[in-house]
Amino acid sequence: MPGMETVQYTLPQDRIPRSWYNIAADLPKPLAPPLHPGTLEPIGPDDLAPLFPMALILQEVSTEREIEIPDPVRQVYAQWRPSPLFRARRLEKALDTPAKIYYKYEGGSPAGSHKPNTAVPQAYYNKLEGTKRLSTETGAGQWGSSLAMACAFFGLECKVYMVRVSYDQKPYRRALMEAYGASVTASPSTETDSGRAILAEHPDTKGSLGIAISEAVEVAAKDPTTKYALGSVLNHVLLHQTVIGLETIEQMALAGDEPDVIFGCTGGGSNFAGLVFPYLGRKIHGRCNARVVAVEPAACPSLTKGQFTYDFGDTGHLTPLVKMHTLGSTFIPPGIHAGGLRYHGMAPLVSHVKELGLIEATSVQQLEAFAAGVQFARAEGIIPAPESNHAIAAAVKEALDAKAEGRPRTILFGLSGHGHFDMQSYIDYHAGKLENYEYPEEEIAMALAGLPAVG
Ligand SMILES: Cc1ncc(COP(=O)(O)O)c(C=O)c1O
Repeated sequence: MPGMETVQYTLPQDRIPRSWYNIAADLPKPLAPPLHPGTLEPIGPDDLAPLFPMALILQEVSTEREIEIPDPVRQVYAQWRPSPLFRARRLEKALDTPAKIYYKYEGGSPAGSHKPNTAVPQAYYNKLEGTKRLSTETGAGQWGSSLAMACAFFGLECKVYMVRVSYDQKPYRRALMEAYGASVTASPSTETDSGRAILAEHPDTKGSLGIAISEAVEVAAKDPTTKYALGSVLNHVLLHQTVIGLETIEQMALAGDEPDVIFGCTGGGSNFAGLVFPYLGRKIHGRCNARVVAVEPAACPSLTKGQFTYDFGDTGHLTPLVKMHTLGSTFIPPGIHAGGLRYHGMAPLVSHVKELGLIEATSVQQLEAFAAGVQFARAEGIIPAPESNHAIAAAVKEALDAKAEGRPRTILFGLSGHGHFDMQSYIDYHAGKLENYEYPEEEIAMALAGLPAVG
């Protein structure tokens, strides 16, 4: 139709990236090494072998710039990749902004978010190395359902510890995981030592990702046929997500635009890293000067208010210590609806690029996030996941700033998932039941006081 405006920038199946991009190759300063939780000495690949297959451990420590994506993984990716890049023309009009707004949409995967981008290779490498069962945690349920699906594809059993507050808020996510064949338990549970210890101290706890990770790690450490899979934070998880940004760079070229500012929501940092690391690689080499902004919830502000130091990845202190922005591994965040953002720490790689000044961070309150999500849905039709609403809120604010200043700009954000299983949170929002949480200063101070002493 003549005069039609383009809103979708799509790539053919053969443009699915052939390699993941490893930012470790381009960092001006290397990452601090992970430390053994007992000895506090740097760990080697063998220390991680009870939890992960060797292929993933080698990716975790690799400094190769490009890591080839195995064909069977690309073949599974082909069901939803390359994912679309949209120009949000109706949102631009609704905001009456001179800014152009683009979003890369990961909600078209079968599980509804970016999480299958790493669930599929993790299940694949585990299968190759003879693993029978994977154990994991899930916050909102997006990660658990992605791993459950990937396990179904590769013939693995899947055991999911689902954070109590989400287990109660999102019964359909649990049903989805069970439909894929996974076994799902509310965390903390009485099945593990870590779960029982937390319940003894806090019988009414809503749980947290940090607690659920302890349970899943414990199960894998005790059973030689079970390995552990993490949905965010680790270097290899962020690596797998870089297909998002690699495709986006090509799609922005199709649109004939370059982003001036890029936003992504951050829980453990994986969808954000997936979108922005390929851009940061260019930024390090002077080929991109976009502002890159991580957007986190005000109730769990690890990047904006946490300390950059060594801490445990879990509440039960079973995982290695990693250097990251943390609120303290014993901090249990308020029960906000963006369950996937309720994590006490931030990925070491995302923390590191923040320290290097390559990215900025900001925080958004729950009500502002939902207001932006509803405005987005009314303009673009897609109901976003509550996590993604944080990125939308920042993009909307930027577009309104552009209008107030009378200065156009190109905004890009990551729409990490849809919210079809999160409708209770929208019901609560519209019923006026959602509240903002003040920064839980005292609780965080207590959790930070308990940080491990590492020289
Ligand atoms: C849709 C969605 N977006 C974002 C996140 C946050 O995780 P990450 O920061 O690792 O992308 C989650 C986590 O569950 C999620 O489900």
